[in-house]
Formats: sequence, C-alpha cells, structure tokens
Amino acid sequence: MAGVIIVGAQWGDEGKGKVVDIYTDEADYVVRYAGGPNAGHTLVVNGEKVVVRLVPSGILRRDAICVLGQGTVVDPKVLVGELDTLDARGLSPRDRMKVAERAHVILAYHILVDGLREATSAAIGTTKRGVGPCYEDKAARRGIRLRDFRSRVDLEARVSRALEAWGPTIVALGGTVPTVEAVVDDAWDAGQNLLPLLADTAALTEAALKARKRVLFEGAQGTLLDIDHGTYPYVTSSSAIAGGACTGVGIGPSRIDAVVGLAKAYCTRVGGGPFPTELEGPVADRIRTIGAEFGSVTGRPRRVGWVDLPALRYAVRLNGLDSIALTKLDVLAGLETIRACVAYDTPNGRTRDFPADDLEACTPVYQDFPGFSQDVSNAKHLDELPKEARDFVRFIESEVECPLSIVSIGPGREQTIILSHPLRPE
Ligand code: GDP
Ligand code: IMO
Ligand code: MG
Repeated sequence: MAGVIIVGAQWGDEGKGKVVDIYTDEADYVVRYAGGPNAGHTLVVNGEKVVVRLVPSGILRRDAICVLGQGTVVDPKVLVGELDTLDARGLSPRDRMKVAERAHVILAYHILVDGLREATSAAIGTTKRGVGPCYEDKAARRGIRLRDFRSRVDLEARVSRALEAWGPTIVALGGTVPTVEAVVDDAWDAGQNLLPLLADTAALTEAALKARKRVLFEGAQGTLLDIDHGTYPYVTSSSAIAGGACTGVGIGPSRIDAVVGLAKAYCTRVGGGPFPTELEGPVADRIRTIGAEFGSVTGRPRRVGWVDLPALRYAVRLNGLDSIALTKLDVLAGLETIRACVAYDTPNGRTRDFPADDLEACTPVYQDFPGFSQDVSNAKHLDELPKEARDFVRFIESEVECPLSIVSIGPGREQTIILSHPLRPE
C-alpha cells in the first residue's frame, strides 16, 4: 500500500493527529490536503503534548517529509511560528517541510472579516482564523498565493485588488479597512521566511507515489464539516472528505490505496449547527472533563453526545472507508450505560440514513449498552478489554459495515490497539 488517506468521520477532532503520528513510523511522506489553521491536531509523545495547526502531524518522526498541499490555506505567521517552536525543540522541521507555492494565503483582512461576521447574528461559530474568507477569495479568483511573495510590487497590486473587493463588506460590518501597506508589512517577513520551502507539491507527491514511497494524506476537520456534504451552512469552507485529497494535493484517484476514517466512540462538535445526539448534564460534563473536550485551537468547550451510527454510515459511504480507527474508548469507562444512535425517527418514518439537511426534524433512536467500570487505557489487545467494551465496539463495526483498524484507549502513542495497519504488508 502506498497512498493512504486519514480522514475525520465526524465533526472534527476525532484524533487524526494521534493516528497520523502513529502511522508515520511506516510512512515516507505526510501530506495535508485541506483546511488551514482552523485545524488543531494533538500529538502526545512520552507524556508531552504538541499541537500542530498547519504543520502535518508526521513532523515528530525525523524521517518523514511533511507537505502542505495546494488545497490548504496558509497563514504565514502561524506556520512560521509553528516551525520556530518545533525548531526550538531540536526537530529541524524546515529540512523536511515542503509547502505548495500555489496554496492560498490568509492575510489580516481575512481574519478581520471572519471575526466581524462572527460578531453578527449570521455567526456559525467559526474558529475566526480567516479560513472562510480566504477560500472565498480563491473562488472569486482574487486570492493571494504563497508564490506571490516573490515580488513585493506584485503582491501589493494583488492585495490592493482584494481590499477593493472587501472594503464595502468590512465597512458594513463596522470595521476599518486596513491599508495595503499594513497588510503586506504584517505578512511580508513570514512570507519571505517560507520562500525556501515552496515547491510544486503536486509533482513532488506524484513522484513519491511513482517511486513506491509510502504517502499518508492527512485530512483536517471532518466529513460532517465538509463544504459539499456536511451539515450546511454549519460547515467549514473546504473539501474535508477523502475525495478532497485528490483535488487538494493534485493527484489522481487511482493513486489512493486505502482510506482510514477516524471516529470517537462518542461524538463531539465545536461551533454551531445541528447535533442530534448532543448531551447535556452530568454525563456530558463527565465525558467533556475526562475526554478533555476543549478546542485545541480556540479553547472552546466542545459539545458532546453519543456516537451517531447513521452519521458514521454516511461517512463510510462518502469517503469509501476501508476501515475505521475508533478513538477515546477509555473516556466512556465508568458510565453505567452507554448509548449508540442506530436510526432516526423522522416525519416520514424511521430511517437508518443520515438526513444531513433535515436533522432538526429528526429524533435519534438509541440502543443502550451496559457500561464498563475498569480503566482500559493500558490494554494491549482487544481481548484485554472488558466484555462490555468489546461488545460495544464490535456493535459499531457491524452496524456501519466497516472493519475497525485501531481502537485507541488514551492520548499516548502506546495507548493504541492496532488491529490492522494500512502501510504494513499483511
Ligand atoms: P484531531 O483534530 O482529529 O487531530 O483531534 P484533536 O487533537 O483536536 O483532539 C483529539 C484529542 O483527543 C487530543 O487531545 C488527543 O490527544 C486526544 N486523544 C486522541 N485519542 C485519544 C484516546 O483514545 N483517548 C483519549 N483519552 N484521548 C485521545
Ligand atoms: P480539526 O482538523 C473541529 C468548525 C468550527 C466551525 C466550522 C467553521 O482539528 O479536526 P471555520 O473556522 O473552519 O470556518 O469554522 O468548522 N471547525 C472545526 N471543528 N475541528 C476542526 O479541525 C475544525 N475546523 C473547523 O468550529 O463550526
Ligand atoms: Mg482538532
């Protein structure tokens, strides 16, 4: 197997960072394909926590080449800050990092607009990192790309055109339009810092795949936040699903050998939008506290709920999942009863499908399972788990008709039960 996609199967934060880090011990390249600094991927190694937002989660493995594909949006200051922090840890990330010269750039006015909109009644609970407005500029054909930092004169001309377009919006939202000079000054040094890393990453990735290198494609966000297939309009602004890896990196679908979907044994969501299995009260508080469910980018408490199997089946279908890595099973220990949503009651009857656009009219139908009281976070094999925990994960597997490849039982690398590995020969 050479090309493997790791994709979020819920509303993000499923543990993609942890799993990518684990798989990277067998990978030569790790390539991010979508999203930007709205992502926060957490790696825990030897008890130490590292959160990356733009740098791919393979960076802690010294041999892997890490790539930001052109489907991502890059805030140069955030990326340089991350690289400097990793540098200070002695990881020399710049030696192993390539960034798409055609990736679009998040500038001060994108962050300004994102923040101003979030202060209005049209807010959807974004991360306010300027990601949405940057993708808007890309679609409007007035975006700035990293390659534009090669000429200050050209960059200023492009920023001037973008500001002309954004000016009325900024004013209408009560903001002050920044000057071209202020915008360019703000990002210039970071942009210059990144120039040596710029590359044709589509060609580079294809060459790696042709040479039978093992390439991991690291998704950001999750299936239910996908711009086309998520719970619109409460979604992000890019193609988070597995198909996004091909367009976001610039490789053909025939290059993909396997797709692994990430899902928690429960469910979380940050920001607004429907969440049918959402919980409130003591059980929610317990899961949030034990699972440390606070946003890694914004620090917002994550909304928590029971695992949603119609939603997971939807993710299996949309991503063509070959397997599921199920995370955070340990967090459910100590609950008397665990629930799984198996279907929805809708005005038109009961369905096992996920009605992404009509969730408000749906009531989840639950199946209850006895909980388990033992700490499972040190188990090495599935059969070391209590029967109740095993029954629960096997039920999920059979209901969504997709085999489990990982059961994760803690944030650490070692707290992982690997059932099959997409990059290891059988
Ligand atoms: P990502 O955005 O998908 O990479 O996920 P985040 O890093 O935003 O959030 C997942 C959080 O859960 C991080 O704090 C991880 O360290 C943590 N985590 C991952 N897997 C497990 C697990 O199996 N058990 C527990 N308790 N924590 C986990
Ligand atoms: P990772 O990669 C969870 C959510 C925001 C908001 C919506 C739109 O860590 O899983 P945006 O800033 O993208 O315009 O916000 O998407 N969101 C995420 N939620 N994990 C993420 O990334 C997210 N990235 C965006 O909370 O609801
Ligand atoms: Mg996250």
